Amino acid sequence: MERPCVIAGNWKMHKTVSETVDFIDQLKALLEDLSERAKCREVYLSVPYTSLYAAAKQARRSALLIGAQNMHEEEEGAFTGEISYKMLKEAGAQFVILGHSERRSIFQESSSLVNKKLKKALEGQLKAILCVGESLEQREEGRTEQVVKDQLLSSLEGLDRKDLKQVILAYEPVWAIGTGKTATPCQAQQMHKFCREVLSEVWGEKAAAEMIIQYGGSVKPENTAELLKQEDIDGVLVGGASLDPQVFHLIVNFDRSVVES
Ligand code: PGA
Repeated sequence: MERPCVIAGNWKMHKTVSETVDFIDQLKALLEDLSERAKCREVYLSVPYTSLYAAAKQARRSALLIGAQNMHEEEEGAFTGEISYKMLKEAGAQFVILGHSERRSIFQESSSLVNKKLKKALEGQLKAILCVGESLEQREEGRTEQVVKDQLLSSLEGLDRKDLKQVILAYEPVWAIGTGKTATPCQAQQMHKFCREVLSEVWGEKAAAEMIIQYGGSVKPENTAELLKQEDIDGVLVGGASLDPQVFHLIVNFDRSVVES
């Protein structure tokens, strides 16, 4: 089944407003010259809250989709320091990353909290990139599949097939994030296939086949094509390598044919 290829950047806590504007101007120019093969790829950029408005404005009349990196599960209220989907949307966000491993581990976000956020985002017509992935310890203990299955099922709990169309899944092994260690294409493919099987058990084969599943964790121009050549890898979620427009553009422009099969 032909699924869209989605390349998403996640800036994390990087870039001020002026740096954002500068980056987007450069990226837009680079994207205009994409090779024919790369023109159909979807390009998402997840920026800090403070950069959202400027990023969305700067990205107008381009194919670039701007989003946020987190949100609160309530619509409004006494939650000092938090941000709601309504605020994100009005600032120009078209999607939000939820359940990133840094949110899960540093800020103790559980899958049930991620589930509440996800439901709220979808209710507000905000697309979501839902992240799941095991830690090194969990992998070494042989619990990878169980951990990912649990995260997947509890984060998506209560969603129907129609909701799933608004969700992109990102499999990001925690041990590969920001460490320079990428999962081998084979390891990643195995987990992507596993995620699709889990989805299929609950939401059926069609919904599982339609789900876009990105890989994330030390993605760079040198390993993109090899990862994306795998049958169940439909895109990448890129942290560090999305901070430089030239480098990010190389990832978007990857060429599958350079990988030997
Ligand atoms: P990285 O981050 O590409 O810097 O490893 C990926 C992510 O956290 O989404």
